Amino acid sequence: MESQRILLFISIATLFTATFLLNSSSALKQGETCATNKNCDSGLHCQTCVANGNLRPRCTRIKPINPISQMKGLPFNRYSWLTTHNAFARLGKSVAPSNQQDSITDQLNNGVRGFMLDMYDFRNDIWLCHSFGSKCYNITAFQPAINVLKEVQTFLESNPSEIITIIIEDYVTSPKGLSKVFDAAGLRKYWFPVSRMPKNGGNWPTVDDMIQKNQRLVVFTSKSSKEASEGIAYQWRYMVENQYGNGGMKNGSCPNRAESPAMNTKSRSLVLMNFFRDNPDLPQSCKDNSAPLLNMANTCYEAAGKRWPNFIAVDFYKRSDGGGAPAAVDVVNGHLVCGCGNIAYCKANGTYGVCDQPEAEATPKGGSSQKSGVGDLNRKPLQLRLLFLTLLLVIFF
Ligand SMILES: *[C@@H]1O[C@H](CO)[C@@H](O)[C@H](O)[C@H]1NC(C)=O
Ligand SMILES: *[C@@H]1O[C@H](CO)[C@@H](O)[C@H](O)[C@H]1NC(C)=O
Ligand SMILES: *[C@@H]1O[C@H](CO)[C@@H](O)[C@H](O)[C@H]1NC(C)=O
Repeated sequence: MESQRILLFISIATLFTATFLLNSSSALKQGETCATNKNCDSGLHCQTCVANGNLRPRCTRIKPINPISQMKGLPFNRYSWLTTHNAFARLGKSVAPSNQQDSITDQLNNGVRGFMLDMYDFRNDIWLCHSFGSKCYNITAFQPAINVLKEVQTFLESNPSEIITIIIEDYVTSPKGLSKVFDAAGLRKYWFPVSRMPKNGGNWPTVDDMIQKNQRLVVFTSKSSKEASEGIAYQWRYMVENQYGNGGMKNGSCPNRAESPAMNTKSRSLVLMNFFRDNPDLPQSCKDNSAPLLNMANTCYEAAGKRWPNFIAVDFYKRSDGGGAPAAVDVVNGHLVCGCGNIAYCKANGTYGVCDQPEAEATPKGGSSQKSGVGDLNRKPLQLRLLFLTLLLVIFF
């Protein structure tokens, strides 16, 4: 009896080793067991989600499907963008709380297109900072804003069909402080002018038009006066936004944040959904960014007068138990772009409401060109099953 147990233990240990060996030689799909990020297909990462009880390391999504690549020519407000809350607050870069794991450049390469940035006057410059009392301190400072804005400039320059939105929590009071730092970063030439933003709930210009005119940087400030003085759009004149922090994470409820008009205010064409905790929590974020995030998208859709969020803002955007925030963005883009349950089901340049069969649920793929993003997909390669069978035979006979 005892020896049988030992044999069983050995066979299980061998199975796990074999899994990693086999898996490391091929690009794995979402949900498949992995040992390192390199094992997984592009656009996927290897991680566990202990907060959800998922101890088996599996390939999970870190990159949404680029909706512009799937459907051209729609107004800007007919797309949804993965957005990082406190995009600059990178783990290990300050003693202040961190909300993200990687650089702005890495976020851009993973398909993040909305960036929430807190900007302050600090050391005779504009800094990205966390703070209290509207002031930045040494211990809460991250880095000069120009560094991050230059990363954005580099990306816009080398990706002429991409559009980026920056949403500033604005504590800058120095005269023309924001304008100066955007100019210094070389971003003026990409500026989407306030004069072209719909003032009464109309459609935005199409993404094609924005790309063709090279007006590919959309910037919002939380300070209303800067719209007149510096031509920087006052966020809540164009957008509704739900409550952030713990108050915005109650299942079934999507109230507006205090600064925003009510969610169902149709004179604002854009909808932003926050879904992150008061205190960033790396271990819990994989759970938050999974089913509850998608639930909240549905709740906010109803609260916003049947409008899907154009920006989905999260902490630790790469963390999830499977599809995560990228999959939520794909689902919302499906509804916005073509009226299907996922952007993967939109026909290229197709008619609204005509969807491909969601065959992807049976044969998931990873990466930016992938067809899936929904469901837990736990297939094992055929070789592995054969190996397992062989092992059993060897051990028991
Ligand atoms: C903040 O940091 C700067 C530069 O390192 C230093 O000169 C200054 O004394 C610091 N201020 C405080 C209050 O610690
Ligand atoms: C949250 O609400 C959704 C419906 O919006 C429901 O399906 C789900 O079970 C709820 N989750 C919890 C934990 O109450
Ligand atoms: C979709 O439209 C764009 C131009 O608007 C075109 O370049 C592309 O080839 C079209 N794709 C398909 C599959 O028709």
